[in-house]
Amino acid sequence: MKVQLTGVSETLLWTLYHRAAEARRDDALLHDPKDVQLVDTIDYPFERFGGGGSLAQWQALRVLAFDIAVRRFMDEHPGGTVVALGEGLETQFWRVDDGRVRWLTVDLPETLDVRRELLPDDPPRRRSVARSALDLTWMDEVPEGEPVLVTAQGLLMYLRPPEVRGLIAACADRFPGGRMLFDTMPRALAARSLKGLMRTADYTAPPWHWAMDAGEYPKIATASPKITAVRALPYPAGRGAFRLAPWSHRIPLVRDLRLTIIEIDFAFD
Ligand SMILES: C[S@@+](CC[C@H](N)C(=O)[O-])C[C@H]1O[C@@H](n2cnc3c(N)ncnc32)[C@H](O)[C@@H]1O
Repeated sequence: MKVQLTGVSETLLWTLYHRAAEARRDDALLHDPKDVQLVDTIDYPFERFGGGGSLAQWQALRVLAFDIAVRRFMDEHPGGTVVALGEGLETQFWRVDDGRVRWLTVDLPETLDVRRELLPDDPPRRRSVARSALDLTWMDEVPEGEPVLVTAQGLLMYLRPPEVRGLIAACADRFPGGRMLFDTMPRALAARSLKGLMRTADYTAPPWHWAMDAGEYPKIATASPKITAVRALPYPAGRGAFRLAPWSHRIPLVRDLRLTIIEIDFAFD
């Protein structure tokens, strides 16, 4: 299947490709045959993203950290709902499914056309909504009064800071007792991305706009009085130098170059 996406939507092929590059290894940290199958099915010049290597391992560790947090939510709230904002072609549902979780994908219409073709909805447990995450009507699709985890993996950095605050505040208002999980870039990387940080001879990734440095995370709570906790989650350990990944938030320089995964809790009404 030929896939033609541009700008931020095209970045889902970058993350997909790097997850698959890791999943193909004999000593893979990430086990994701569905992801590999997607890359093999899609007609797209993935080689323009460059080689997998350490970027693929880093991508796998990031994804595994998200998976751990999603599984924890599912264990605490059997049959709860995960809303995956900007899910692209993530295959997380198949990695973590416990047979009970309900899953709602929210992504832009052009992206969702591709997802629905390759990973068709399977209602009632797995559904999708073709809408911007900033169009809050997607919230009407979430079962009321039930446990909710909203994830935004690789999305918020592409939004403007006021949009990110508004989205977090709206989730806190609408999902009492809920939780949100997302990643954020350090400011130095976001600044470099304006000049084309993730660049190869054939591809330049779009810039990141929302960023936060280590130490600034508590500020997220100022988005809404209904935020009761803000936690930066550890990365799991990887191979080679990535064995130190669980402590990477304490290593100067590395700390300022890594993406941080944040989990926040919302108050009950
Ligand atoms: C870097 S990709 C991440 C995809 C996936 N979460 C992953 O980690 O592989 C960014 C995703 O955000 C989506 N996106 C961009 N702007 C969006 C918006 N305003 N609302 C919902 N999704 C958006 C894109 O279509 C794309 O799927």
